[in-house]
Amino acid sequence: MKLITATTYEEMCQKAARVLAAQITLKPQSVLGLATGSTPIGIYQELVREYQEGKLNFSQVTTVNLDEYLGLSPENNQSYRYFMNQHLFNKVNIPKENTHVPNGQPQNPQEECRQYEELLAAVGPVDIQLLGIGNNGHIGFNEPCGHFPEFTHVVNLSESTIQANSRFFAHSSQVPRQAVSMGIGTIMKAKKILLVASGQGKAQIVYDMMFGPVTPQVPASLLRFHPDVTVFADQEAGALALAALSK
Ligand code: PGA
Repeated sequence: MKLITATTYEEMCQKAARVLAAQITLKPQSVLGLATGSTPIGIYQELVREYQEGKLNFSQVTTVNLDEYLGLSPENNQSYRYFMNQHLFNKVNIPKENTHVPNGQPQNPQEECRQYEELLAAVGPVDIQLLGIGNNGHIGFNEPCGHFPEFTHVVNLSESTIQANSRFFAHSSQVPRQAVSMGIGTIMKAKKILLVASGQGKAQIVYDMMFGPVTPQVPASLLRFHPDVTVFADQEAGALALAALSK
């Protein structure tokens, strides 16, 4: 697991976006695993800017997203499909049929999970998977629990995630209680992983992920067993990990 720190959030996003841009340039048919949340927004802005400047072509790119809230339609402005359309897909030349986000309103959620795994097997492997990290160490919606979930599954969101995500909703009671998420095993199949973290509130969990015990109580800690993970952190989020590395 490599750590790359940046002075500011903007610089961190530029660095991470450069890796994704290089991937698309070197392999136009790349499969990108994408993430939602506030941290990746600056990365998507960078990619859109490069596209607008004529430096990037998404016409052959395929994307697969990590997760989606259960109960929200694609048109709901809190859904992750809506987020991805707003921040990236509507702003670049990616064919919509090449973009995949789990269905938030499946008739049968278990069947949706099975089909999403099938889809990933058909389009994958993912060349680069982008990840944020929750304050509780979750990646995707893999919450701390007694095991590392292997496949795409239905998740009951933890109270800490509901509280953390309530900032995007008018009231915490509106935050969906369940989601469909790739499993940790699904995420680990990506060839390369970029994890981004910003702000002081992430400093402890970035440290725990890199140096604490590998435990399902810190789901991101399993990434230490992946051969190609780069953590991009701004100065605040990377502070504790950087201090440990320079000891
Ligand atoms: P954030 O979320 O980028 O909004 O902090 C990260 C996550 O929960 O995965």
